[in-house]
Amino acid sequence: MTTPATLPAPDTIAQQHSEQLLSLIHDEIDRAGGKITFAQYMHLCLYAPGLGYYSAGSQKLGQHGDFTTAPEISPLFSRTFAHHIKDVLQQLDTPNILEFGAGSGKMAATILSELADNNCLPEKYYIIEVSADLQDRQHRTVQELCPQLADKVVWLSQFPTDFVGVVLANEVCDAMPVHIVHFKQGDIFERYIERGNGALQWCDAELSHANLASHSAEIQNLIESDYLTEINLAAEAWLHTIADNLQQGAVFICDYGYPKADYYHPQRSEGTLMCYFQHQAHADPLILQGLQDITAHVDFTLLAQTASDNSLDVAGFQSQADFLLAGGIVELNLAENLDDFAMLQQASEIKQLTLPSTMGEKFKVLTLSKNLDQLLARCQLADRRYTL
Ligand SMILES: C[S@@+](CC[C@H](N)C(=O)[O-])C[C@H]1O[C@@H](n2cnc3c(N)ncnc32)[C@H](O)[C@@H]1O
Repeated sequence: MTTPATLPAPDTIAQQHSEQLLSLIHDEIDRAGGKITFAQYMHLCLYAPGLGYYSAGSQKLGQHGDFTTAPEISPLFSRTFAHHIKDVLQQLDTPNILEFGAGSGKMAATILSELADNNCLPEKYYIIEVSADLQDRQHRTVQELCPQLADKVVWLSQFPTDFVGVVLANEVCDAMPVHIVHFKQGDIFERYIERGNGALQWCDAELSHANLASHSAEIQNLIESDYLTEINLAAEAWLHTIADNLQQGAVFICDYGYPKADYYHPQRSEGTLMCYFQHQAHADPLILQGLQDITAHVDFTLLAQTASDNSLDVAGFQSQADFLLAGGIVELNLAENLDDFAMLQQASEIKQLTLPSTMGEKFKVLTLSKNLDQLLARCQLADRRYTL
């Protein structure tokens, strides 16, 4: 394996791990007759049992991993989120929470503790997590951070029917395998992965899925010339399942992304795919298989459209900064009796979460609801649904 000079070189054990996954990918390509879609490739890289980036035992999140997420930056993120959640739980008779892709488990433990302090605990806090390694980590975090609430947390393998409660997904949609389409001289192709001379390589061929054709036709109206972009059919199907099974409650989807007018901007003519290895970002998913995270930005218009086509109300669309300000992040900080050092530390965390140059503007929160009597007032602050 060769790693570009700008990236740190993986150690021998990591290299062997990656070679094992690469060999599995080669087998899949051969079995499929010479090429697989990028979505199949991304799925193997991230979720192949025991070998994929999320399935295997690497650190992944946090300072010693490859990337940091908002719940890892500061507990204030999850504590503030809890106030939005409380506004929904208070309207429900048998309130529950279900978090998708709970990462290290810090968000779950912090939300539960904050809701306990606010006398608003849910019946259960469910987690659906595709990575067995992260499930283990979540168990340990919950035991460590809130042992008295651990019996509230239950891991599920699929979304329950007739669910009443709040659904959370922080940086989950960006980790779902995407298809890549290539608009080239008036034609539309899908990008596949094939075996080249000693390395994997891209190739263009026909679209693999009927839904890609309808989405591509819409995208074609928004772009001008040759263009590469991702289409997240997995997120669409995922939201469809939630909409079908949510009886009453709300869904909060927080991720980096744009409404469609910004997503398919000429500036993004090479797409939004990014890889993260030891806190270095780059754009080549065909290296470091199983050792790096691969992500794509979220098309929030696609999610909002899927939601409203499936009987969910689009209740708000805010920047992460506005969502956290509406949830009272500043008041939480001021209410604590902190010494000067801790105060400065928290102020720096709030900046990271809310400044436009860091996460505040890049990340958005899409709020969806179903059968709620009262408006979610906090979601009205600087609401940008008009951009969707
Ligand atoms: C980028 S991490 C974010 C983790 C955590 N939410 C956070 O903010 O720290 C993506 C997480 O989503 C999980 N994941 C991806 N697709 C999923 C799906 N369809 N269902 C449940 N979890 C999923 C991954 O295993 C991982 O835990």
